[in-house]
Amino acid sequence: MSVAGLTSLSRCGVLALRSPAGLTGVRYVQTAAAPAAEPRIKKFQVYRWDPDTAGDKPRMQTYEIDLNTCGPMVLDALIKIKNEMDSTLTFRRSCREGICGSCAMNINGGNTLACLNKIDTNISKPTKIYPLPHMYVVKDLVPDMSNFYAQYKSIEPYLKKKDESMEGKEQYLQTVEDRQKLDGLYECILCACCSTSCPSYWWNGDKYLGPAVLMQAYRWMIDSRDEFTEERLSKLQDPFSLYRCHTIMNCTKTCPKGLNPGKAIAEIKKMMATYKEKKAAAI
Ligand code: SF4
Ligand code: SF4
Ligand code: FES
Repeated sequence: MSVAGLTSLSRCGVLALRSPAGLTGVRYVQTAAAPAAEPRIKKFQVYRWDPDTAGDKPRMQTYEIDLNTCGPMVLDALIKIKNEMDSTLTFRRSCREGICGSCAMNINGGNTLACLNKIDTNISKPTKIYPLPHMYVVKDLVPDMSNFYAQYKSIEPYLKKKDESMEGKEQYLQTVEDRQKLDGLYECILCACCSTSCPSYWWNGDKYLGPAVLMQAYRWMIDSRDEFTEERLSKLQDPFSLYRCHTIMNCTKTCPKGLNPGKAIAEIKKMMATYKEKKAAAI
């Protein structure tokens, strides 16, 4: 293009004006806008219940979101609903990258983390979101985790030594091999997706510890530095704490971190058998 003796080079909306003497100026020009993308409206059906509203009953509420204006994960959709459409919607979240475990919920029938769960882009199917199943609900998607945390506390999830005189004085070292035994156990983020997918936990959640807590009990039982393995096993010696697990394996199937609590429980049962034999022989 040539304007009154000037030639121009145009790229990406930037017009460079050049005269025979050299570059004389640069200015921005309007380029044709890209055609607007076709809206992709997706329905999200979300469980709602507000205990502070007298007489409120649980119900599903539908929100419509254009996926072109939303991030790719279910947590992005929930945040968009809360920020732009309905600030009363209540859910937990913090890290948005699968580390804190707080956004655990039931999405399209499976327990998972909303921040790691991709929105199904099939707009003909609504995405259904419920709180974790078989838990008391505090509000909307927020479950009451009190029982779960009390059970976690009950297994004493920390290093225990018989002789505490060295506590805080030096590191308790372990071999590389012993440390590797904890892989696949220590990564648990206590999201409770596994425990709340376990039918045994649904029916006996008050007495059965459930897969998440049992996996952490196992993590401390096999830590080479811990000296309370037998006591830890002995605490599970009743018909409910451990033995309500019937190896259905929903827990392992649902874990959003790819861990295997079902296997950890099976390992505790094996340890329990040896421990019982040893105890019987000692009598
Ligand atoms: S393997 Fe045990 S803990 Fe896991 S879902 Fe089945 S019954 Fe529950
Ligand atoms: S084992 Fe997996 S599903 Fe269970 S609490 Fe830990 S991270 Fe969550
Ligand atoms: S927001 Fe932390 S795990 Fe999802």
